[in-house]
Amino acid sequence: MAISERISIIRTVEEDAERLAEICKRAFDTDVDVGAPEPGGPPGYDSPETQVRLMQFLDYYKILLDDFMVGGVIIGSSGDEHRVLERIFVDPDYHNHGIGTRVMELVWEVYSKAKLWTLGTPEGNVRTKHFYEKLGFVHVGWDLDDPNWRGLWYEKAMDSSEPYIMGKIEELSDGMKHVDIEGEILEKSDARVVRSRRRWQTLSVANAGLGDNTGRIVLVLWNEQIKQVKVGDRVRVENGYVNSYRGVTQLNVGRAGKLVILLQ
Ligand SMILES: CC(C)(COP(=O)(O)OP(=O)(O)OC[C@H]1O[C@@H](n2cnc3c(N)ncnc32)[C@H](O)[C@@H]1OP(=O)(O)O)[C@@H](O)C(=O)NCCC(=O)NCCS
Repeated sequence: MAISERISIIRTVEEDAERLAEICKRAFDTDVDVGAPEPGGPPGYDSPETQVRLMQFLDYYKILLDDFMVGGVIIGSSGDEHRVLERIFVDPDYHNHGIGTRVMELVWEVYSKAKLWTLGTPEGNVRTKHFYEKLGFVHVGWDLDDPNWRGLWYEKAMDSSEPYIMGKIEELSDGMKHVDIEGEILEKSDARVVRSRRRWQTLSVANAGLGDNTGRIVLVLWNEQIKQVKVGDRVRVENGYVNSYRGVTQLNVGRAGKLVILLQ
């Protein structure tokens, strides 16, 4: 039987954390062979504690070859119809046997309601570029979260006859969560310096005006985002939330959300 036919995915438990961290480290450290400047991976990629934390917030599966763990895959969400591939890694001893491809087929079966999948990957990684494009992902924008590298933001529409519909600005109201919005940056204020009460850090914040064909709303930009986003840019907020500050309704990206600069 082909290796890919012996693959299954099941939800992780805390006891898996050590082995997951060990495989994850070896998998990402091979990125130096395919475009990364140095060995390394996402924050905490080699830490069992981080794997446990990820299990608490996201859907974390282990990849099994028969009964043997050969990797992990982590799924995030902006609602049932929009899922995010947060991470996939396969033990380098088993690369290029179709395991990653098979895992994605299994993931799509589990999340059958999802109409849109998105993910980010470093621009210079020739392996993930090939892997995701082969799976039908297309480059739609830039993920600038990490100051050290530019991330390609990819999406895959599962069924072109049933596209995922982004939210409309006119429908946004205080308290909404899991909001996906696309629009144009119409204006941007100067940055103000604020002190975070929770961590005693100094932060910069600016307000942008974000517009679509139904209305406009304040989009809150923090720190690096203020320089990254320019008037005239088309942007997408994925998994954002809406609140109100001094009586003004505003859209926030938040730590669980993503700000994407769309290709023009
Ligand atoms: C990305 C990853 C999960 C793929 O797993 P996998 O089990 O090897 O996946 P598959 O065998 O299904 O497909 C791999 C494809 O990449 C291609 N590939 C491998 N090395 C490559 C390279 N240097 N340049 C271009 N393509 C490459 C393979 O040829 C194969 O494509 P093909 O089927 O058209 O031949 C695995 O490489 C990995 O764990 N990488 C490290 C972690 C990582 O970068 N994760 C993704 C970011 S979250």
